[in-house]
Amino acid sequence: MGEKESKKWVLMATARSPTNIAVIKYWGKRDETLILPVNDSISVTLDPSHLSATTTVAVSPSFDRDRMWLNGKEILLSGGRYQSCLREIRRRAEDVKDEERGICIKREDWEGLHVHIASFNNFPTAAGLASSAAGFACLVFALAKLMNVKEETTELSSVARQGSGSACRSLYGGFVKWAMGNKEDGSDSIAVQLANETHWEDLVILIAVVSSRQKETSSTTGMRESVETSSLLQYRSQVVVPRRLIQMEEAIKKRDFPSFAKLTCADSNQFHAVCLDTSPPIFYMNDTSHRHVQLCFLVHRTSYTYDAGPNAVLIAPNRKVAHLLLQRMLFYFPPPSEKELDSYVLGDTSILQEAG
Ligand code: ADP
Ligand code: DP6
Ligand code: CO
Repeated sequence: MGEKESKKWVLMATARSPTNIAVIKYWGKRDETLILPVNDSISVTLDPSHLSATTTVAVSPSFDRDRMWLNGKEILLSGGRYQSCLREIRRRAEDVKDEERGICIKREDWEGLHVHIASFNNFPTAAGLASSAAGFACLVFALAKLMNVKEETTELSSVARQGSGSACRSLYGGFVKWAMGNKEDGSDSIAVQLANETHWEDLVILIAVVSSRQKETSSTTGMRESVETSSLLQYRSQVVVPRRLIQMEEAIKKRDFPSFAKLTCADSNQFHAVCLDTSPPIFYMNDTSHRHVQLCFLVHRTSYTYDAGPNAVLIAPNRKVAHLLLQRMLFYFPPPSEKELDSYVLGDTSILQEAG
């Protein structure tokens, strides 16, 4: 192939990853660069057909630098996290051959090749529904596919962790534990699957989007401030979570919904209490979130959890209870009328943002 010809090819790979919602929250790092947490956490990975990130990565000799578009807008890749993921995947890249198109990339060539990345989330970004988890898991998975990385899921999960802590749990389905580990190099800070997606099939998770606006305090900034100023966080990570984790693992194993629900709500409440105990305090939940919590207590056998945002994740033990909960939700938080929707389309955004 001549120089001009050889610059024409583009090789692509696409992946889709689900988000995950923590039932025992990760909040606080002991190492900001490697992203090592101050406590273990447990999450449930959602079905990828609902909340997910879809990422396409492309490589071509005609690209002169790495670039990324998130939801259609170009973002800077200068942040350390994207660089860590790119570096770690490039380091593990293998030879790639496409005989039909006469393309051959040697493992040592990857260092000199640039990538373009385009990612879309089918749910609100940076609004407390763990877009960073789906996003970085997906980015790492797509890059690994493109570069023919042969590592096990554990290894990819550790790379995703260096993009966003919660992302290490999205490489697995079902219930996942992220063990904090205690080694300085982070080699034992890994995610493990506790039970696969078929283990507790009756469980229903409802997401109530209260606001799709980007939160004012990102999770990264929020947890840094909590580590610096909250004494409740120290108590939580050293005393409460270790105990709660054992109970949660047991509840999941036995599919014991009452215990699971009690622990999930308690952990969400404590995480938000830590946010209030931070200086200056962080308010992720809003009045609508508080009303959802009250409603949840009115419907017997339901549970809730809130990540770093106002959007509710409601959990029911089965479809029957989920229907009941949904009915109540729609009664207390009816969808906007056509007139309200019209004024929304015409630019009055206050209605939907205020609506629960
Ligand atoms: P969330 O609660 O949604 O996880 P965070 O504050 O933790 O919010 O993270 C939001 C950040 O995650 C975004 O600003 C962006 O940097 C990153 N992110 C979100 N979605 C993606 C994606 N699909 N691909 C890569 N990075 C993403
Ligand atoms: C409240 O993983 O988004 O969702 O590691 O700084 O990217 P970084 O933070 P992130 O924090 C998630 C916090 C949480 C709880 C959880 O997912 O465990
Ligand atoms: Co996040």
